[in-house]
Amino acid sequence: MELLVLIVLAACTTAVASAGVTSPYRRSLMGVPPMPFDADVFRPPPGYNAPEQVHITQGDLTGRAMTISWVTPHHPGSNMVRYGLSPTNLTHATESTAVRRYTFGPSYQSPYIHHATISGLDYNTTYHYALGFGYTNVRSFSFRTPPAPGPDARIKFGLIGDLGQTAHSNDTLAHYEANGGDAVLFIGDLCYADDHPNHDNRRWDSWARFVERSVAFQPWIWTAGNHEIDFAPQIGETTPFKPFRNRYPTPFRSSKSTQPFWYSVKMGPAHVIVLSSYSAYGKYTPQWAWLQAELARVDRSITPWLIICVHSPWYNTNEYHYMEGETMRVQFERWVVDAKADLVLAGHVHSYERSHRVSNVAYDIANGNATPAFNASAPVYVTIGDGGNMEGIAKSFRTPQPDYSAFREASFGHATLEIMNRTHAYFEWHRNQDGVKVVADKAWFTNRYWLPTDTN
Ligand SMILES: [Fe+2]
Repeated sequence: MELLVLIVLAACTTAVASAGVTSPYRRSLMGVPPMPFDADVFRPPPGYNAPEQVHITQGDLTGRAMTISWVTPHHPGSNMVRYGLSPTNLTHATESTAVRRYTFGPSYQSPYIHHATISGLDYNTTYHYALGFGYTNVRSFSFRTPPAPGPDARIKFGLIGDLGQTAHSNDTLAHYEANGGDAVLFIGDLCYADDHPNHDNRRWDSWARFVERSVAFQPWIWTAGNHEIDFAPQIGETTPFKPFRNRYPTPFRSSKSTQPFWYSVKMGPAHVIVLSSYSAYGKYTPQWAWLQAELARVDRSITPWLIICVHSPWYNTNEYHYMEGETMRVQFERWVVDAKADLVLAGHVHSYERSHRVSNVAYDIANGNATPAFNASAPVYVTIGDGGNMEGIAKSFRTPQPDYSAFREASFGHATLEIMNRTHAYFEWHRNQDGVKVVADKAWFTNRYWLPTDTN
């Protein structure tokens, strides 16, 4: 009996002792401040009035044009872009369109913003380009055009959202660079300037210097997020998207869109449709009308992979921003399922989540069939708002985990999508805490048009 008491006492002591142990490892849950303005990743290039914040995006519908953007800090400087197939023989030249500046709030004046579209490029070809003529530092970069639209072309996309400019953001970008990709589908929320007093637009400048190391060399396809709205009537700023619209052009006209916030591009085997959660999308609105027409233009025999980018997720099991995307889902999900879209990418929620193929299209307000159901024509929904911005991680997942949620984790990271051919694409998610080559989640997707298996 005494022995039993001793054993029980020992067990209790052990239990009490172990309950007090705190694991030394903690995933960063709190927001961290942005890197300071004097951080090395924000350092301007040397040389008076040197071009900086260089970034490129596809300049037409199919990839035979590239739009090159940069700013000059002190003077408009040269509008010239020289480019060619060899870094030492830049045989062609074009000029940026009207140089622009904008003001924001009580004191911000932007640098001189240049946009130049070079066109008539060959597919799948490396071009070199140079900027900053007339000053001491002419800066040189290069990019590769995508393969021609075609069912068995290959392309590897980086998938990044809600990046910001913290040390976590820097990890995310570094890991993406190490894993490699041909282009980035950026799912909105770039620099988070609006989290600072008066939407401190110096953060638009520092962010653009930070990401130049990637986006000067490969096109990033831009989706607008809520942090791009910059609606601030208290400081006299009543035009939504003012900094974003001035700085980040999109090729919207080439896909018959009327605004830069919804448009499409074809890149090799992919038809990428970008939607705006923060522009009107109700019935009869310009975005609604455009999407209806655009889905009819998709030709899966040429671009088998139909990918939709939208900032606010339609399926999300996190408390954070829960159901914010619901009205857009109700508006567009039927079309997306009927179109057999492969993938819907969203950001906004600062965590990672991948869904099974589900739809709610059976539901109407009267029949009560409100549970998402497996649907082989439905896309996989991926939330990739885990770029690492200053607002921190969204860790409050709803419990129990709904059946349609295949994988979810509150960590910062990025994903890649490698389209192999018309039938198969390989998806990976990487969390920043791991080494760059560690895969934390992965899936093979089969094409919804060419091989609509009951997978995912
Ligand atoms: Fe957002």
